[in-house]
Amino acid sequence: MTPRALVTGASSGIGRALAVELAKRGWKLVLVARDEHKLAALAEELPNGPHDVLSEDLSTDSGMQAICARIDADVEPVTLLVTAAGTGTSGAFPWSPMAEEEMMLRINVLATLRLTHGAAHAMKRRGIGGIMTVASTAAYWSAGTYAASKSWVLLTTLGLRAQLENSGVRVMALSPGFTKTEFHARSQTDPSGVKAWMWLDAEDVARQALDDFDAGKAVCVPGRRYRALVETVRHLPPGGRSAVLRRIAPLRSQPKTTPMSPDSSQD
Ligand SMILES: NC(=O)c1ccc[n+]([C@@H]2O[C@H](COP(=O)([O-])OP(=O)(O)OC[C@H]3O[C@@H](n4cnc5c(N)ncnc54)[C@H](OP(=O)(O)O)[C@@H]3O)[C@@H](O)[C@H]2O)c1
Repeated sequence: MTPRALVTGASSGIGRALAVELAKRGWKLVLVARDEHKLAALAEELPNGPHDVLSEDLSTDSGMQAICARIDADVEPVTLLVTAAGTGTSGAFPWSPMAEEEMMLRINVLATLRLTHGAAHAMKRRGIGGIMTVASTAAYWSAGTYAASKSWVLLTTLGLRAQLENSGVRVMALSPGFTKTEFHARSQTDPSGVKAWMWLDAEDVARQALDDFDAGKAVCVPGRRYRALVETVRHLPPGGRSAVLRRIAPLRSQPKTTPMSPDSSQD
């Protein structure tokens, strides 16, 4: 069976870097995001083509259904699902606009729920496959709705991994720290206070993620410093975790769009 990966969020950042790295490693791709032009340009540029483009909005029911249908198809089957599409909000709850909060939950949580559910069924039926979700180190150390959405991704992925043990379907959560992508600009947060050493390159994150996936790991936290930090911080009480985060990675909402909003902490 030709290895074929469906990658959501492939038009930018971590999803794009994962798509590039997968193509280099011999995978055919189904590239998913809203921006069709960016996806088409990427499909042309990648080695090992031709690759498919599926331009869908993951915040809509019809978009989620279209992607689930592609995952379920037995013709040119998807053997790896990567759910990298994700978003944050422009301020800390409860000052963030409710529409943004609901949109974030639809993309980060509901779409991950539906796509991984569909992939688990299709891949178990075929007796082969892989699922990589994208959580965040925020799942370990932050509070707030973005961190909660990423904790949900992490815990759901670990549960799915246990449920699919010995089924031929490999499951891993990727939990990166601050990564240089469009994420913070899109969610209108100012990460200029984040310490320089905390920034990761999306290409390094993608390489580490695929190496760890091939090694059968349950969770990939890219970067030695982040692994040490996660190990240390996870043993602190919640208040202690937030205090550490505020010192090393203060994030502010961009004031012009959300004037009432105090600090928010998402990565
Ligand atoms: N950057 C970080 O510091 C960081 C750290 C930890 C975890 N993460 C997580 O990593 C993942 C990737 O983020 P990134 O940093 O690569 O951000 P990014 O550069 O902003 O990329 C986000 C991707 O998600 C897609 N997307 C957003 N809304 C969508 C929608 N409604 N329907 C379909 N696709 C949608 C975007 O494509 P279109 O706009 O073309 O639809 C884009 O390809 C996210 O889950 C994020 O939470 C990021």
